[in-house]
Amino acid sequence: MCGIVGCALRRRASDIIYGGLKQLEYRGYDSAGIATLSKGQLSIVKRQGKVRMLESCVDDLSGNVGIGHTRWATHGKPSDVNAHPHSAGKFAIVHNGIIENFTELKQKYFPDVQFLSDTDSEIIVRLLDKFYEGGLLPALKKVASLLSGSYAIVVICTDYDGIAAVKYKSPVIVGRGADGNFAASDAPALAGLCREISVLEDGDFALIDCAGISVFDNDLNPVERKIRPNLATPANLELAGCPHYMLKEIRESPRAISNTCAVFHTAEGELKKICGGVNRVILTGCGTAYNSGLVAKRYIEQFARIPCEAEIAGEFRYKNPVIDENTLVVAISQSGETADTVEAARLAKNSKARVVAVTNAPYSQLTGIADVVIPVAAGPEICVAATKSYAGQIAALYLLSGVLSGRDLTESLLQIPALCAQTVENTDISAVADMCARSSGVYFLGRDIDFAVALEGSLKLKEVSYIPSEGYPAGELKHGTLALIDENAAAVVVITGERLAGKSKNAVEQVLSRKGKVAVITCLDGIANELKDRATIVKIPDCGEFLSPLISSVALQLIAYKVAVTLNRDPDKPRNLAKSVTVE
Ligand code: AGP
Repeated sequence: MCGIVGCALRRRASDIIYGGLKQLEYRGYDSAGIATLSKGQLSIVKRQGKVRMLESCVDDLSGNVGIGHTRWATHGKPSDVNAHPHSAGKFAIVHNGIIENFTELKQKYFPDVQFLSDTDSEIIVRLLDKFYEGGLLPALKKVASLLSGSYAIVVICTDYDGIAAVKYKSPVIVGRGADGNFAASDAPALAGLCREISVLEDGDFALIDCAGISVFDNDLNPVERKIRPNLATPANLELAGCPHYMLKEIRESPRAISNTCAVFHTAEGELKKICGGVNRVILTGCGTAYNSGLVAKRYIEQFARIPCEAEIAGEFRYKNPVIDENTLVVAISQSGETADTVEAARLAKNSKARVVAVTNAPYSQLTGIADVVIPVAAGPEICVAATKSYAGQIAALYLLSGVLSGRDLTESLLQIPALCAQTVENTDISAVADMCARSSGVYFLGRDIDFAVALEGSLKLKEVSYIPSEGYPAGELKHGTLALIDENAAAVVVITGERLAGKSKNAVEQVLSRKGKVAVITCLDGIANELKDRATIVKIPDCGEFLSPLISSVALQLIAYKVAVTLNRDPDKPRNLAKSVTVE
């Protein structure tokens, strides 16, 4: 996490860097800093807190060349001193990633030096200063060769009127603009500045000055990297009248579903080829992406009758999984950059499995590994809490289950965007939000596919409200969790299928009899009528059991959003979190 941006311009750099950092804040927001270079002099400001803490200093930073950073702390607490850029001698650097061997490197090269910060990143600038002999790129190459872990590094040096970059397992894009040239972690930083971007590959170096961008491979031979359109534009990054990105993005869920369906054909031909003879499917991802995999497991087993597992990517990659050339591994990731998911996909590829990526980021690391990419066309998602991308992932995975089962399921999705929009606009969740906001803990319950959605509802609530919450299969309640229920606890029970409605109702009764408060999210009139006097009912449109996650999840997202706002939390930037988890 962490967002980095650097530029060499024909105008002052600091305000452009500041604007870029604001757009990258979803990657981390516990401290930020900018360094600029003017007439061979470095100026640096860095502050604990959000990027706006730098606003008052931007005018004091002169120079047309600079780098900036917004941080999500891994090593070293959030503080002014641990904020990037870090500097030594002629250099200032910003870093995204983790240097796993920084302690060994420090002991070896600087045993008696007192470092200024507690970060793993400071070693990079110390080493640059140590090995620099007048050539920026050779020094950067030498330093990169010593580092273990992951890194996107952008450097300024008082001897060079530009910036240099190197990357390994953390993203760097470069772009040419009207006012000069840029490097950044992600496309939103360059929205409105560059219409086109190139994505650096692992081991690439770049030298960027006002006149141009030169990219080199790991042996410092010049290479060309594909030029692609910058899909992030000022228009699609706007709040569009919404108070928060979370609400804006929940409202965009219907479009995420319809757009994802509309582009599915781009992958369909290749998918049909790759799915032939598959005898096992593994869906892997983290957080919300894993939760969408849990929903899709149900689709694949139901429609294709192929054994299917959903695996948390950070576990899957270390468990020596049984996979072979007949296994289909589906890596799900909004960002396409989540370290665990990328490594899980790499492991699958190295084990000769067939690998499909389901991602909202068409140029991400994950797309470089996968045999086939199923695009999630949700558009840029800025809020740390994933919402519309979950909807897009489920739509994409549903259609994948159609390919695996030899059926075209497109038609069954046609009505969903309208029902989803109806849910977004008409569902009154205020009473449930109020109940959750006043509870000591909220337990999300459901059975079968409703349980998968319950897990996502719980993740969303805890993430943006900080209220302790768990998702449980409704039947498991009596095997332990019931001990947590008292008059201060609340349960949100999802009931969308007649088949298991009676069973889930039992869980409602169990919570009520222990004085817990209950809300029921349901499309079933019978359940709503039976429970309306004892529980808060949220009625949602009925679209059948299997597609219900595309509707019920929206109600749960709205609840989480409302609770966050009620409790005065920032739903877009929850404490301690960042959107793209590019480190372990
Ligand atoms: C969701 O609200 C979370 N912020 C988080 O769980 C997220 O889904 C997870 O980090 C995976 O991210 P990815 O989809 O970009 O891989």
